[in-house]
Amino acid sequence: MTETLDRTTHIRSAWRAAWDHGRVEALDELLSPSYVRRRGPASAPQDREQFKDSVRAVRLAFPDLRTEIEEIVEDGDRLAIRWRSTGRHTGTFLGVPATGKAVEVSGATFARFDGPAVAEEWVTFDSRQLLEALGVITTAKQAAVDPELVRGVHRKFITGVTVVTTDDDGTPKGLAVNAFSSISLDPPMVLVCVQRGSATHPALHRASHLGINILAAGQLDVAKVFASKADDKFAGLAWSPGDFGAPLIDGSCAQLEVEIGERLQAGSHTVFTGRVVSARHDDLAPLVYSGGGFFDISHTAPLPW
Ligand SMILES: Cc1cc2nc3c(=O)[nH]c(=O)nc-3n(C[C@H](O)[C@H](O)[C@H](O)COP(=O)(O)O)c2cc1C
Repeated sequence: MTETLDRTTHIRSAWRAAWDHGRVEALDELLSPSYVRRRGPASAPQDREQFKDSVRAVRLAFPDLRTEIEEIVEDGDRLAIRWRSTGRHTGTFLGVPATGKAVEVSGATFARFDGPAVAEEWVTFDSRQLLEALGVITTAKQAAVDPELVRGVHRKFITGVTVVTTDDDGTPKGLAVNAFSSISLDPPMVLVCVQRGSATHPALHRASHLGINILAAGQLDVAKVFASKADDKFAGLAWSPGDFGAPLIDGSCAQLEVEIGERLQAGSHTVFTGRVVSARHDDLAPLVYSGGGFFDISHTAPLPW
């Protein structure tokens, strides 16, 4: 019983010192020298020094941080702690510059004691709650805008036309996509948005790589086939697998192969992001899509810039 009180009291006081006041040395008395902090399969485990560094980093971003221990349950050498942290975001955190927003995150920590010290901890918390509070993601419903009005706006935006492809266990699949964008050059990353109702969509969830074929002005027929629901869009088409297996269509003016990273659900579409792993382009003019029509801009005059 005495040890129960000691452990609980010790955790409360060390957490308050470290999380609320930045005195991370208090953790040296609570955590054993061989302490390991586990945060799920996506994050590398931390040792005691790394954990202290991460507390310092959180406090730099949220200097008024307060962590409230809502419940502690003990079972033998294990302790389960339910906690809630609040703070104002006034410094860069997870790459997000200060927003001034009040952030609240709750989670649970399971601690294994070895004698008086914590040898190991498993931490889970609601990362969506944190990302939403920082404004990285939003689930809030916005005021509706007339979809026809929005469609009219999109018709003012000129794009190229790509065919996004993938190898589905030996069968090439693909669809016409103009929702393609570069994200970053270093590292080279791109995105494509694919409607969930598309027949190619499930294959893009199974695949590790996708191909992006930027169509040339002479490939209007290819654009039409890949904008259709035809069974075998590759029948009679000249194409070959790229270095990473994605189908690459002959005659395209540029081609990328992309290792798929995230598959973000957004409205009716999935945003596939990824790292460019192979690239080529040539001198052919691109096919252009604008206001519902296709154009060959190779004979247009460039404006002075
Ligand atoms: C110019 C053009 C651009 C398109 N862009 C997209 C797009 O960005 N994302 C998308 O999901 N569908 C887009 N589509 C529609 C698909 O290509 C079309 O729905 C196709 O039939 C889907 O094929 P699938 O169901 O065999 O995958 C576009 C169509 C055209 C003509």
